[in-house]
Amino acid sequence: INSTIKLNTGAEMPTVGLGTWKSAPGEVEHAVEHALRIGYKLLDTATAYGNEAEVGKGIKASGVPRESFFLTTKLNNPDMGRPKEALEHSLKQLDTPYLDLWLMHWPAPMTKNDKADKSIDWLDTWHEMEKLYKAHPDKVKAIGVSNFSVEFLERLLANSEIVPAVNQIELHPSCPQQAVVDFSVSKGIVVTAYSPLGSDNSPLLKNPVVNKIAEKYNVGPGTVLISLQANRPYVNVLPKSVKNERITQNLKVIGLTDEEIKELNDISKESSFRACHPNWTGWGNLGFTEAV
Ligand code: A2P
Repeated sequence: INSTIKLNTGAEMPTVGLGTWKSAPGEVEHAVEHALRIGYKLLDTATAYGNEAEVGKGIKASGVPRESFFLTTKLNNPDMGRPKEALEHSLKQLDTPYLDLWLMHWPAPMTKNDKADKSIDWLDTWHEMEKLYKAHPDKVKAIGVSNFSVEFLERLLANSEIVPAVNQIELHPSCPQQAVVDFSVSKGIVVTAYSPLGSDNSPLLKNPVVNKIAEKYNVGPGTVLISLQANRPYVNVLPKSVKNERITQNLKVIGLTDEEIKELNDISKESSFRACHPNWTGWGNLGFTEAV
């Protein structure tokens, strides 16, 4: 397993990074500091997580120079009508001169009250992101998307100049999203896996198949689930933790056999949630059922 993946910009993006969704402001500063000190080269945050300022403080506290790690943040849904201001705000909060990657968080413009904002087309916002990227290469090194299905990617690709560097989506055995992964990769878009453990209180950590493989390699179940994503070509992975011991553990990836990968992918999808939950109506939850 390579330690980095090449993006379509030519930049190398690390295979494993620290996720910070649900990492509370009081905890995330310390988590980021620890992660950078022990060798994490990739940090992922988002304006929507409400913790960019604390991530920035953790970076400062670590003493690790900015150019030695990769930093991603995301444009928040209610900011889709004002991406330039949102970018400046993120840079300020993170106290950094530049982002390695700036993602559209969801293809779903929203009002401040969390309602779909039908006055904005996410494709127009993407075009604004393209312009900002071209005008300010010193501030934004790459742009990409998150939570994009095939349909949304097709619309973007047919109507844009820049191919997203990354599509960040939920991936774990109960949510393999193979069609989105295959489509993204076929277009040269690296896929970043979020919630690789299945998020909080995940039944996957207790799953017998996961634990059988974990015992074989003498690692924890988390390592097996993180490695499952890292073993997919052109996929990198963002385990989230605010606990030092787990942050340390989660940086390790192991090679899995084809047989083990198949067994893991065959795990029952019953525990699926969010993007792969049977009742998840996809972007319809946000008032957007179609790409257009
Ligand atoms: P905590 O932050 O308290 O460590 P995901 O990356 O899929 O979103 O999963 C994150 C969830 O899994 C969080 O609840 C996190 O809790 C927990 N977690 C992170 N790493 C591990 C691990 N190695 N073993 C067990 N649970 C973990």
